[in-house]
Amino acid sequence: MEVVVCKTKEEASKLAAEMVTAQVKKNPKTVLGLATGATPVLMYNEMAKAVKAKKVSYKQVKSWNLDEYVGLAGTHDQSYRYFMNENLFKKIDIQIKNTHVLNGLAKDLEKECAAYERQIKAAGGIDLQVLGIGSDGHIAFNEPGTSLKSRTSCVYLTPSTIKDNARLFFKGKEKEVPTRALSMGVGTICEAKKIVLLAFGENKQNAVKGCVEGPMTQFCTASALQAHNDCWIFCDEAAAKKLTLKKYYAWRSATKLGL
Ligand code: GLP
Repeated sequence: MEVVVCKTKEEASKLAAEMVTAQVKKNPKTVLGLATGATPVLMYNEMAKAVKAKKVSYKQVKSWNLDEYVGLAGTHDQSYRYFMNENLFKKIDIQIKNTHVLNGLAKDLEKECAAYERQIKAAGGIDLQVLGIGSDGHIAFNEPGTSLKSRTSCVYLTPSTIKDNARLFFKGKEKEVPTRALSMGVGTICEAKKIVLLAFGENKQNAVKGCVEGPMTQFCTASALQAHNDCWIFCDEAAAKKLTLKKYYAWRSATKLGL
């Protein structure tokens, strides 16, 4: 696990976007795993800038998103499909038919999840997975108590995640946040060949500490990433504050990135 510590989230987002751009340049048929939330928005803007500057093209890229709320149509303005269309897909040259988000309205949720897993496998697996992190250390919607080997399934959100998500989305109305979601499993995520996780702000301090230096435990599902051999954590100073070896990680990752 490499921890890149930047002064600001803007700086971290730029570096993370460069990593994604480099991957797509190297393999124009890259299979991306994508995330929602406030955190990746700056990085998505940087990715869009690179497309505009003709540095890279997503025409042949395929993507699979991490999760979606159960009960929301992709046209609902709080759905993750809608979020992706607005915050990334409309801004880059990806073909919308090559983008995949779980269907929160599927009649048979189990079938939907199993089909999603099959699609990812048929595409050759995810080359690069983008992740955010919940304040309780969850990745995708894999809440504390989820098996670190879990596969894509219907999951139940904790009250703290519902509260976090209502603060930024759903106009603050907690009651409107669905209590269930479809989510890639921890095991599914860990199979990605490369992982880029973004974490910004004080609110993510404990989550980053648990992810990087905590024991590997289902109580902090991001800690499963410790067993991944190409995982990059891009964070700002605030999110990295509680890391015991912060300075060492920052030096090591900066050296590896040639910064
Ligand atoms: C949700 C998403 C996660 C995301 C998290 C943090 O729970 N399912 O994928 O990482 O929110 O979101 P934010 O970046 O807004 O803090």
